[in-house]
Amino acid sequence: RTLRIGLIPGDGIGREVIPAGRRILEALPSSLGLKFSFVDLEAGFDTFKQTGVALPDRTVETLKKECDGALFGAVSSPTTATKGYSSPIVALRKKLDLYANVRPVKSVAPSPAYPEPIDLVTVRENTEDLYVKEERTYDTPDGPVAEAIKRISTRASTRIATMAGEIAARRARVRQGLGDGSGKQALVTVTHKSNVLPQTDGLFRSASFAALAQQRFKDAGVKVEEQIIDSMLYKLVLQPAYYDVIVAPNLYGDLLSDTAAALVKSLGLVPSANVGDGFAIGEPCHGSAPDIAGKGISNPIATLRSVALMLDFLDQEEAAAKIYAAVDGNLADGKLLTPDMGGKAKTDEVVEDVIRRRHCL
Ligand code: NAI
Ligand code: MG
Repeated sequence: RTLRIGLIPGDGIGREVIPAGRRILEALPSSLGLKFSFVDLEAGFDTFKQTGVALPDRTVETLKKECDGALFGAVSSPTTATKGYSSPIVALRKKLDLYANVRPVKSVAPSPAYPEPIDLVTVRENTEDLYVKEERTYDTPDGPVAEAIKRISTRASTRIATMAGEIAARRARVRQGLGDGSGKQALVTVTHKSNVLPQTDGLFRSASFAALAQQRFKDAGVKVEEQIIDSMLYKLVLQPAYYDVIVAPNLYGDLLSDTAAALVKSLGLVPSANVGDGFAIGEPCHGSAPDIAGKGISNPIATLRSVALMLDFLDQEEAAAKIYAAVDGNLADGKLLTPDMGGKAKTDEVVEDVIRRRHCL
């Protein structure tokens, strides 16, 4: 099978890490029976400066018509309000209906603060909640008052919780396959604040529980619990090893996913995927890092893991597992690390080290 992958490097170190993503795909063993073809696509602030648009129509059309998945690097945002510019990744999520933002966070080694390994994934609803951006301001005798709509739908809540259930089922499968003896099940934590917002968050909660009650999730060993967002953040910082899969509406998910990323310190390690039905864009969590761009020292791990995550959602779990394991091998070994991880290696040396490990799995 050949998968066609759109490559959107964007700006800054996006141009260094996306080629690394392509290299790992090309290096996957042929025994997997998978081939890849690539199409280079433009987006970002440089594209905007050259053409006046940050997300050319060709990029969107090619992704829709030709591609099975895509990799997105990072884009620089102008520091001052720039007429006509809007974030291309935000627009892409809308245009391709990528309704979930999935961010796995995994610790490299036990740290004094976190002696137990962290291995969790946040699944954030990406289309509604307060981020529908329906705000208004009106005058009152006491001065202007502003308000915003928080919209929660049964449809969006159901599909995000279903995706969380599928991710949890996959994690349970992988754990059983690894036979690590723990017989570990998977746990989905539904996050909300329905004690204060019984209608909006209450709907998210009830729709999530209904979706997660499907027999196929029970059969896969998926357990479900709930936690109020404030105590959730508290416990996430104090006891991150407790968590497995966390599902949340847009705003809480935004806060949770950045907090979770901070637990493993380097931005250069944390991947994400923007996922819709039948399409996924892998995207490292970091930005364009202008301070190190062009030096060849950006950490490619976030992108390599984003490649694996994209493959998971394209139903290529075996290929994904090889990349995750090869990356873990590089990190555990600790000899070839980029400067953000305290090493001296260049981007290319890390990629080569990861590629060397993909066979011995
Ligand atoms: P940043 O993530 O680009 O960089 C923050 C710090 O982390 C910098 O010191 C950078 O060198 C380091 N860093 C980030 N990724 C790294 C990697 N792979 N390897 C080694 N070190 C890494 O965030 P910053 O500086 O706030 O923003 C820079 C630009 O990126 C801005 O224009 C911002 O708008 C944009 N940005 C874009 C994002 C996206 O495309 N999704 C996300 C965050 C920021
Ligand atoms: Mg954020």
